[in-house]
Amino acid sequence: MKQSLFSVREFGKTFIALLVVISFAILSSSGAFAADRAKLLKPFKNLSKESANCASCHKKENPSVYQQWGNSKHYGANVGCYECHKADVNDPDVIRHKDFLISVIVSPKDCGECHNEEARQFAKSHHAKAGDILGSLDNVLAEVVEGAPTLNGHSPVNVSGCSQCHGSKVEVLPNGDLNPATWPNTGIGRINPDGSKGACNACHQRHQFSIEQVRRPEACGYCHLGPDHPQKEIYEESKHGVSFYSNVDKMALDSPKWVAGEDYEAAPTCATCHMSATTEMPITHDLGDRISWNLRAPISQKIDAKALAKGEKVKPWLLRRKDMKSVCRSCHSGTLTNNFYEQFDGVVNLYNDKFAKPGAKIMKALKENKLISKDVSFDDEVEWTWFELWHHQGRRARHGAAMQAPDFVQWEGMYEVAKTFYVELVPQVRELIAEATKEGNKAGADAVQKVLDEILASKEHKWFNGHAVKAKHIAAPK
Ligand code: HEC
Ligand code: HEC
Ligand code: HEC
Ligand code: HEC
Ligand code: HEC
Ligand code: HEC
Ligand code: HEC
Ligand code: HEC
Repeated sequence: MKQSLFSVREFGKTFIALLVVISFAILSSSGAFAADRAKLLKPFKNLSKESANCASCHKKENPSVYQQWGNSKHYGANVGCYECHKADVNDPDVIRHKDFLISVIVSPKDCGECHNEEARQFAKSHHAKAGDILGSLDNVLAEVVEGAPTLNGHSPVNVSGCSQCHGSKVEVLPNGDLNPATWPNTGIGRINPDGSKGACNACHQRHQFSIEQVRRPEACGYCHLGPDHPQKEIYEESKHGVSFYSNVDKMALDSPKWVAGEDYEAAPTCATCHMSATTEMPITHDLGDRISWNLRAPISQKIDAKALAKGEKVKPWLLRRKDMKSVCRSCHSGTLTNNFYEQFDGVVNLYNDKFAKPGAKIMKALKENKLISKDVSFDDEVEWTWFELWHHQGRRARHGAAMQAPDFVQWEGMYEVAKTFYVELVPQVRELIAEATKEGNKAGADAVQKVLDEILASKEHKWFNGHAVKAKHIAAPK
């Protein structure tokens, strides 16, 4: 028995070795390896003569870039290096390169010469504006608390952290080179030398610009993950993620037309819900088009609230919600869809009313009554506590409810919110009150005490003062 098994294995090994030798002999004698590559990149018949020039030199200099481009739809459409990298003599980041004027950065303005609808939608999105806050001292965490301006005047935390997701202002040095403190960077709201905002390649990885790559959840997961906005982790543990990863081969990810319910039905990806076409809507590159809440603010408001308060005209939240529901309806019934939104709103409203509004009120009272400093952030422990409550834990709960991840709603979300509120925030406020009384700010201490007492006497919180409250849903059935 042992003997025969051995010989079968040996035979297998010899057979494979033989196959390898034979195929190598065939391939090398006919030059098939070389032919394969050459077939992929046909002679540059219709390519502009500038691009043909770039490509033939870069084929040697950067074979990977050349090959990625060769695998792209752009290559097939005669869109070459020069069509994307060409620059005007007046562009701030123009460089003279061999016989050409080019720039390294290919901005949304450059892509928009051919893809103007995508560029227009992207330009009006929140994504395009994501870099606006980062260069300033408003970015206290990266500039001051965690960092210092030690890299060409920039904080390394900002350069390699925040800015890589949000984008930074790309600076051009006097000799035309890009300041290493600001590039490489393909953050979603990068401020480009040509004045345009954002980077299409934040999602569309160069140089293949593959449609399959960008429809996958990983394209968004580069930024949308972690303790403060774990959309990627939420998706992975939602039923949608479970279905996606078990059915990737049924997702038609490389299909030119990609409509949920027509071209695939196994699962939605991030793109499906937030961007892609349905039978009723075209693709959108404004990622806010279908969301009705702002779930990242300390207190959630409807997404159009700020603009309306400023008198601006924007797409009303109800219409955005209607559009998202139309996505759900590609695969689900109207009842499931509507009931889901009731559950989702339930979590957001509970978080807002029970913890976020009271928490914000307490923080305001602490500042106004000088129990903590008004102008400096993060110099008082209670500020860190409050920050983690809304920025990490409260967001996780809201995002979990929006995208169906029960663990994020409960254990990573509301459990942590409640724990932080009752056993960190409230005791720290009480300590600050005691300190203020001792230090002679009796009026301030009393004012904060009053706010805290009112909150803790409210029906949601009075259990904490020793009042027994029946938990309705765990009462014994009649
Ligand atoms: C005769 C050869 C040659 C030609 C022609 C050529 N390049 Fe280059 N290019 C190079 C070399 C060499 C480098 C440096 C490569 C490196 O550092 O790995 C370079 C670098 C670049 C860079 C990166 C520059 C940087 O500062 O990071 C870009 C972008 C680029 N080339 C685009 C082009 C485009 C577009 C064309 C055609 C308009 C072109 N090249 C034509 C040889 C060439
Ligand atoms: C569809 C547009 C497009 C085409 C076509 C294109 N590029 Fe690029 N290229 C980009 C983008 C986008 C970047 C990223 C620059 C940035 O925004 O930071 C880039 C970056 C580069 C870089 C610097 C980044 C690195 O990884 O070193 C080089 C070099 C480069 N391209 C060379 C080429 C060459 C050579 C060709 C032709 C074979 C080519 N590109 C064709 C869009 C294009
Ligand atoms: C000179 C015109 C031109 C420029 C500049 C250009 N593109 Fe394209 N792009 C095209 C054409 C043409 C096609 C269609 C190719 C096809 O369908 O065969 C295309 C296709 C695409 C696709 C779809 C790929 C697919 O598999 O369906 C994406 C994504 C894309 N481009 C992104 C970009 C980005 C991002 C930039 C800038 C970095 C850019 N393009 C710059 C002309 C251009
Ligand atoms: C891993 C990528 C990543 C890093 C690093 C990062 N952010 Fe963000 N940030 C995001 C994403 C994604 C969102 C949107 C979250 C959402 O909508 O749920 C966001 C949202 C924000 C917002 C809210 C914007 C609004 O419209 O309300 C601010 C402010 C912000 N980030 C500041 C920073 C600062 C400051 C740093 C560095 C100290 C930083 N971020 C680091 C990805 C990142
Ligand atoms: C937030 C990520 C993201 C950014 C940023 C982004 N795209 Fe896209 N883009 C996508 C996704 C996802 C798709 C695929 C949508 C689909 O097929 O349903 C897509 C599709 C496309 C297509 C193919 C459209 C079609 O009709 O098939 C083009 C062209 C394109 N993008 C160009 C751009 C340009 C130009 C920019 C910059 C102005 C840009 N994209 C920025 C995610 C992004
Ligand atoms: C390179 C980082 C990055 C990538 C990649 C990225 N995002 Fe974002 N996204 C952000 C940041 C940062 C914000 C917050 C912008 C702000 O409000 O200032 C944001 C905001 C959003 C918002 C809220 C928009 C609004 O108008 O309120 C949605 C929804 C969103 N992203 C979805 C996606 C999806 C889906 C993808 C993938 C197709 C994606 N993002 C890819 C960084 C990114
Ligand atoms: C089944 C559809 C669906 C999928 C899949 C999905 N989302 Fe969402 N997403 C939603 C809904 C619904 C909301 C809340 C909409 C509202 O506010 O009305 C939302 C909200 C968001 C927000 C807004 C958060 C804020 O702070 O306001 C971001 C960012 C986001 N999603 C990113 C992603 C990313 C990244 C992925 C993939 C990893 C993804 N989504 C997958 C449906 C989806
Ligand atoms: C491309 C198809 C598709 C789209 C679009 C889609 N879903 Fe789903 N959904 C699924 C699949 C598949 C499942 C897993 C079904 C199962 O668990 O048996 C699922 C499961 C769910 C569940 C869990 C149901 C349960 O019985 O536990 C909810 C809730 C849900 N989806 C809500 C939504 C919402 C809300 C939207 C729109 C924002 C949406 N879905 C968009 C395919 C889709």
